[in-house]
Amino acid sequence: MSVYHTNSRSETVALGCRLAKTLSPGTLILFTGGLGAGKTAFCEGIAQGLGCTDPVSSPTFAVANYYRGQQPFAHFDLYRLQTPEDLEVAGFYDYLEDGAVVAAEWSENFAQLLAQEKAIRISIVPTGENSREITIEGASL
Ligand SMILES: Nc1ncnc2c1ncn2[C@@H]1O[C@H](COP(=O)(O)OP(=O)(O)O)[C@@H](O)[C@H]1O
Ligand SMILES: [Mg+2]
Repeated sequence: MSVYHTNSRSETVALGCRLAKTLSPGTLILFTGGLGAGKTAFCEGIAQGLGCTDPVSSPTFAVANYYRGQQPFAHFDLYRLQTPEDLEVAGFYDYLEDGAVVAAEWSENFAQLLAQEKAIRISIVPTGENSREITIEGASL
């Protein structure tokens, strides 16, 4: 487990980019942290680091965004999902099997179900207006 402190959005993007360089196909990344913590910012960095060319945006309404590139990246927001079936129907497991890197914001919503998954777990906690404490488990940067 490693703890990082960022002092701007761009530092969080850079940390995501750094993590991306260590990822292999089919890796799952589970985020916890409330609204405005910086999960989407971190995912923007992951997409950059994976060489994805599609623009990153919050998948809150779409549930999942898929970014094409060298290493495809499926970016989920589980905020509006409730049941295990919701996850399946959204293609969560299909993307993993296909070898995409899969990241999920609001993994809190599926804490029990996802507890068994092998995953990199990232929690982001605001410590000030522009500062965040980012804890990464399951990866070494
Ligand atoms: N250190 C930081 N890291 C990430 N975002 C930050 C940071 N400091 C301020 N922010 C701001 O916090 C907000 C994070 O938004 P976003 O990434 O969409 O969060 P989430 O996806 O967790 O809801 C943005 O407005 C961003 O500019
Ligand atoms: Mg978000």
